[in-house]
Amino acid sequence: MRRKIFLSLSILLALFALGMLVSFLYTKTFFVVTFALTSLIAVLIARYLINAIIYPVEELLKATRAVASGNFNYKMSYQDKTEFGEIAGSFNDMIAVLRDSNESIKNQQQQIVDNEWKFRILSEFAHDWEYWITEKGEILFISPSCERITGYTRDEFIKDPDIRNRIVYLQDKDLWESHVADFKPPRHEEEIEFRIVTKSGEIKWLSHVCAPIYENDVFLGRRVSNRDITDRKRLEEQLMHSQRLESIGTLAGGIAHDFNNILTAITGYGHILKMKAKEDNPSKAYIEQILASAERAADLTQSLLVFSRKQTSSPEPVKLKGIIENVKRVLQRLVGENIELRTEISGEELIAMADSDQIEQVLVNLCTNARDAMPEGGVLAIRMKRVSGDKMHKAIGREQEALSIEHGKGYAEISIIDTGTGMDEKTRERIFDPFFTTKEVGKGTGLGLSMVYGIIKQHYGHISVESEEGKGTIFRIYLPLTEIAVSKDIRAAEEAKAITGGAETILLAEDEETVRKLTRVVLEEYGYTVIEAGDGQEAISKFMENKDRIDLFLSDIIMPRMNGREAYERIKKIKPKLKVLFASGYPSDFTHKNEILVAGLDFIAKPVSPDNLLKKVREVLDKS
Ligand SMILES: Nc1ncnc2c1ncn2[C@@H]1O[C@H](COP(=O)(O)OP(=O)(O)OP(=O)(O)O)[C@@H](O)[C@H]1O
Ligand SMILES: [Mg+2]
Repeated sequence: MRRKIFLSLSILLALFALGMLVSFLYTKTFFVVTFALTSLIAVLIARYLINAIIYPVEELLKATRAVASGNFNYKMSYQDKTEFGEIAGSFNDMIAVLRDSNESIKNQQQQIVDNEWKFRILSEFAHDWEYWITEKGEILFISPSCERITGYTRDEFIKDPDIRNRIVYLQDKDLWESHVADFKPPRHEEEIEFRIVTKSGEIKWLSHVCAPIYENDVFLGRRVSNRDITDRKRLEEQLMHSQRLESIGTLAGGIAHDFNNILTAITGYGHILKMKAKEDNPSKAYIEQILASAERAADLTQSLLVFSRKQTSSPEPVKLKGIIENVKRVLQRLVGENIELRTEISGEELIAMADSDQIEQVLVNLCTNARDAMPEGGVLAIRMKRVSGDKMHKAIGREQEALSIEHGKGYAEISIIDTGTGMDEKTRERIFDPFFTTKEVGKGTGLGLSMVYGIIKQHYGHISVESEEGKGTIFRIYLPLTEIAVSKDIRAAEEAKAITGGAETILLAEDEETVRKLTRVVLEEYGYTVIEAGDGQEAISKFMENKDRIDLFLSDIIMPRMNGREAYERIKKIKPKLKVLFASGYPSDFTHKNEILVAGLDFIAKPVSPDNLLKKVREVLDKS
């Protein structure tokens, strides 16, 4: 630039000089002076122009180029009092302002990037399935957890947002449709629970919370959060199911208890009638019939007591493998030849605190059901292995909390698997209910699985069923294991003793009048003298009146005013060597029964057949 100006000035000067030279030819001296002066002035003007205009403009140009290339730290060094000096100052101020705002833009950009990253981290890891849907049904955002919960990917939902409506379980469609009908409702959150069918066909429970999104009163759609609550629902259902069974059990147990007393009277008097009737008495056959029916009724009552866990049980450390081996032969005979019975048992010995008779009964009942489900034959497998306690505690949940089980030992899992008809959902839900049966009248009582349930619960165990129509059934039972050593097989065969009576005096305490009267009749028939009492307190006063002649205290456990155990404790203080025999038809509280057994005292379960009562009374009286 400077060079161009300099060149133009020089040409100007040269032209001027040429003009001067032409004039010079006429007036020499004048022109010489003028020429020199003019040349000097021209050079001075040129220099001034260069310093005052060209240089600052060039500086400005450099500065703008520097700023344009992003260098906001550039500072113009040109400074004087001229307009250019002012421009340079303003330019420097402008660059400073630009620099500051550039920095703040950069910070804001970084913040946006950071926020975006945080948001992504949150949404990518969101455990619940979150989405934002517009009024037009467009999905603006969806968290990847949609795939974990529904099986459908993010892209699938974005391409086809209607999936969210289609996956709703048929029975919950009405609820869902009324919920989504008003897309733009008030601004509060709404919550519903419904089921979906996932891509793989699994049914899951969702807790769905949604709220409208507004910005400056403009409606932008709805924000939705779906939580998978399938496990919680399952536990709730299990709990409800077991609570229902618990209340049925209480009811059944109560009825069974009263029935026991009634049956004790029927069978007792029936036996007396039978004993008294002469061989040729035509009524004898009817009496037999009454007794047989009463016995069947007693069996039913007994089953109900098993279900309601009110029956007596004798748990001891037992080898489960041994129980299965023992019962295997019976089971093979039971299931018949067209069913193949397989037992697959892990090598290790598993020991549980169990009543082996009851566990055998569980296996028999389950295998009988399996047989009935395979009329055309099939395979029945019994498997046993150890499973960790943790897994089971999750399954058993709160039921076990109140029980003092040694959790560390784990559980024996016994599975009974059949290839039979299987069950639909409705049947599956009711199988443990007493008297629920799908079998023809007379073919099943519907008490088999109720008993299994009661026994397993009494053993602090757990039972589950997996079954599908046409695909067979798996029952799994879990029994808590113990490390207590197995005692020797103490169950010696009971000697069949002949019934003998005696001449002793017996103090009989029983609150149920029918039972008391019957017991008295039976005992008196066999020579004993009986003193009756209707409760514990009466027993004490009767004892005080006759203490020297009483040889045996035969007492019910649960009685009004004072129970049998308490009465005995008081009587014992006066006559420590008095023999005692407790009887109960309602051994609901094991504590009582166990206390009695632990104290080395004798116990007999009702309904007691006269034979057994007489045998037991004699046995106790003859004890030294
Ligand atoms: N393994 C199985 N396969 C298919 N259905 C079964 C199976 N086990 C039980 N069930 C169903 O459960 C119902 C109840 O069984 P439960 O053992 O309680 O009574 P039941 O077998 O009908 O009669 P009971 O056992 O008193 O003779 C059965 O009627 C049957 O419908
Ligand atoms: Mg059955």
